[in-house]
Amino acid sequence: MTLLDGKQTAESIKEEIRQELDIITQKGYRKPHLVAILVGNDGASRTYVDSKERNSIALGFNSTVLRLAEETTQDELITIVNNYNNNNDIDGIIVQSPLPKHIDEKLITQTIDPNKDVDGFHDINMGKLAKGDEGFVSATPLGIMMMLKAYNIQTTGKHCVVVGRSNIVGRPMSLLMSSNTEFGNATVTLCHSRTINISDYTKQADILIVALGKPGFITSDMVKPGAVVIDVGITRIDDASRKSGFYLKGDVDFESVKEVASYLTPVPGGVGLMTIAALLSNTFKAYKLHLGL
Ligand code: GUN
Repeated sequence: MTLLDGKQTAESIKEEIRQELDIITQKGYRKPHLVAILVGNDGASRTYVDSKERNSIALGFNSTVLRLAEETTQDELITIVNNYNNNNDIDGIIVQSPLPKHIDEKLITQTIDPNKDVDGFHDINMGKLAKGDEGFVSATPLGIMMMLKAYNIQTTGKHCVVVGRSNIVGRPMSLLMSSNTEFGNATVTLCHSRTINISDYTKQADILIVALGKPGFITSDMVKPGAVVIDVGITRIDDASRKSGFYLKGDVDFESVKEVASYLTPVPGGVGLMTIAALLSNTFKAYKLHLGL
């Protein structure tokens, strides 16, 4: 089994961006600028946003993180997003979900300028993805495509089973794997919480991508020998013995599946790091588009 190393792969993607950016800024252009908006105090969201900020700065991007109170109104948030939409110095805008219940998340997603929608959640970008047109693709599925490419994992004509149909991961993932592209062209089955006898499908997968949010759900008996297994799950499990008070567990039972898979992503150190690299790549793409580069 070969470990799909998210740390190393993400680093090499970031290094490519860094080198290209160096050349651009040496010509006198400004740096890319990503804005992340966080509303409320969700612990996991705070961690994600902090990580996005750290990684943006480390790459030489400008980063603004707007940390707003839980009580922020929907109208206030819309005004803030529109101000960033109209600000030519801003390339990418992300509004971290989940948002407080009094704010309509769909409406906020649609408020972001599609050309600054580096999360790829806007209907225009989702529509482009569905039709095979160029746009912004959600960072986790994009990061997984980058991982397949980095390891030169052949997908054409293979059977890819995606478990989970979320708008952020499973649905766009199934579109990318079936798209007419070098690391697409797979035959795709999309399984979800209502699939009957799910292991009947997972056992047929040459490439198994799991984004269900159920820790340890995929065990070795559900995996075809030699399959490529991508674990998107990242659940916090309480553990008082750790300083953080938790550890991270994927949707794949790593210990048993590592005995049958040909390639496997670890958790942590796999898909999560690729998500960040893909977000930075989207921001860099938005930046070049805005500057006409
Ligand atoms: N919440 C969980 N994942 C994401 C993500 O990729 N982007 C945003 N904006 N919120 C999230």
